[in-house]
Amino acid sequence: MSFTQRTIDCGAPRLEHVNQQITVNGWAHKVRDLGGVIFIDVRDRTGLLQVVFPENADVEIKSETCLSLTGTLRARDEKNRNPNMSTGDVELAVESWEILNPASVLPFPVSDENEMAKVNEELRVKHRYVDLRRPKMYRKLAIRAALTSKIRAYLDARDFLEIETPIITRSTPEGARDYLVPYRLSPGKFYALPQSPQQYKQLLMVAGIERYYQIAKCFRDEAQRSDRQPEFTQLDLEMSFVTQEDILELISGMTMSVVNDVIDQFSLDKEKVTSIARLTYDESMRIYGSDKPDLRFDRQLFDAGEIVKDSEFGVFKNTIAAGNFVRGIVYPGGAELTRKQITELEDIAKEYGAKGLANFAIIDPSDEAEGSRLTSSGVRVKGGIQKFLSDEEVDQLLALSGAGVGDLLLFVADTWTVSCEALSRLRNEIGTRCGLRDKSKLAFAFVLDFPLVDWNEEEQRWDPTHHPFTSPKVEDLEFLESDPGRVRADCYDMVCNGVEMASGSIRIHQADVQSRIFSLIGVDEEQQKTRFGHILEAFSYGAPPHGGIAPGIDRMVMFLTDDENIREVIAFPKIGNGYDPMMDAPAEVDEAQWKDMGLQPMPKQPQA
Ligand code: AMO
Ligand code: AMP
Repeated sequence: MSFTQRTIDCGAPRLEHVNQQITVNGWAHKVRDLGGVIFIDVRDRTGLLQVVFPENADVEIKSETCLSLTGTLRARDEKNRNPNMSTGDVELAVESWEILNPASVLPFPVSDENEMAKVNEELRVKHRYVDLRRPKMYRKLAIRAALTSKIRAYLDARDFLEIETPIITRSTPEGARDYLVPYRLSPGKFYALPQSPQQYKQLLMVAGIERYYQIAKCFRDEAQRSDRQPEFTQLDLEMSFVTQEDILELISGMTMSVVNDVIDQFSLDKEKVTSIARLTYDESMRIYGSDKPDLRFDRQLFDAGEIVKDSEFGVFKNTIAAGNFVRGIVYPGGAELTRKQITELEDIAKEYGAKGLANFAIIDPSDEAEGSRLTSSGVRVKGGIQKFLSDEEVDQLLALSGAGVGDLLLFVADTWTVSCEALSRLRNEIGTRCGLRDKSKLAFAFVLDFPLVDWNEEEQRWDPTHHPFTSPKVEDLEFLESDPGRVRADCYDMVCNGVEMASGSIRIHQADVQSRIFSLIGVDEEQQKTRFGHILEAFSYGAPPHGGIAPGIDRMVMFLTDDENIREVIAFPKIGNGYDPMMDAPAEVDEAQWKDMGLQPMPKQPQA
């Protein structure tokens, strides 16, 4: 089909183009019929242009019809100018038009962002090709494309090679279930889709590549969350002959450079990133109760154990006596909270394992409120556990926590792990309720020195904290068998605004150490041979010291676009349970395909 091709993009015309004959191609974004005169905002990917049809033109155009429009550009009257539109000073007086393709009734109103906010997400994903027509969605994809393009430029300039690794391969463990692909030529055998290119990138280091990266698709069959998709993208990176410091420097230099460039290019409402904080895993757990603290605000936990170990409040005293912890956090301005609001906080703490949430408030000394008392040092404490605390304990708790008049102190008495989980959740809740997060901040930090392994109570075994290829710290190697829990790893995460954004480590490059780690995490010698024989053998041929990292690209985009849901930054995402409503995948296959694969078709499930 021939059609009149555009001479200019919809977003481009300005006053300087007035009186020119132009053609635009695009879609009817908004159509208004003002008593015989049709106005249309025509949209292409660059923006919107108002076009006006001749009076009483014999034309009917529905939203999202695909058009070619030719006419003369003219200035709008002063009173009709639209400062919110880049082309708001001009309009196109249409002289001829072609309907390139009409649009049927749309599943949702593409041009109305207020209405779009109410549209069911499954419907949007089912008709993603229409959803993506929204300028807002185009912009997200453009930010994503700019980010990966800048990452490539940054790494290419530093002698990295971009190398593709296989998608149908065998299992590489990253802690999730594999997606399997049956192998037709030998029924009963399966490929696994990679949970990450981890093994390949290490083998590339054995191969002497030294500097590798890939914008890599990873596949993990795990529970979905707002920042998790079954298939997602990593910037996967690996280097040889490096220390942890080299990798941290590279990735912080890259992050600051590409993020700041994207902020500039898209005029994002974000502060430039000028530094990346560092803290150890132990510090992070002690100060924030989490290994992914949101550092946009500085509320810290405190450890009241020393102060309350002989307290009259039995819960505290007994907790300390049992070798556990009493830790707390200050809710600024929390003295105003109602009993119901405090119960809500307590419910959050309980959801994360706490048995309760002890509390008391500090109020104005002159306010003789019911349930309050004035201590000998002139502090008025109110409610909760104040009646059990001595004046000295109150003084010390105030000095320790920094709490003042109007604040509420919250305490969890429990194991280290429960106190971390409950209080870090409360910290986030306080951040939200008190509006402590600065939307324009990207608070990046490295969390260093993770433990090598975690005790898995359910399975009664040690699991790798990161993955089994992470190197223990040389100085802790001697405890590998005797006290695995105290072995730290050369392992680091990069977090941003309370989300894990990247993970990496220095790797094991010696077969004997790798074998000891496998044994520790319950991979016996037989399995080591069958599952990991290739990598153990590779390490025996002069494997270099190496290490790397992998930031999640989807999550990086989410920070830049201020999206809370990862699906918003993926062109064709999966919804709940890994379902793609547009393609209707996963789908049943023909019986012939089952046979081909040497598999038995499942008996038809009765319809529910
Ligand atoms: P890890 O498993 O920690 O490390 O993943 C690295 C980063 O990938 C992102 N990510 C995800 N993003 C979206 N959906 C998911 N389901 C998902 N899972 C992970 C996160 C995470 O920080 N091979 C190692 C890296 C290495 O050691 O170099 C690895 O995959 O942003
Ligand atoms: P109780 O003695 O159970 O009525 O609890 C008195 C107060 O202590 C309530 O505010 C409980 O939420 C709180 N509390 C009980 N157990 C704990 C705990 N393990 N840690 C923190 N607070 C607790």
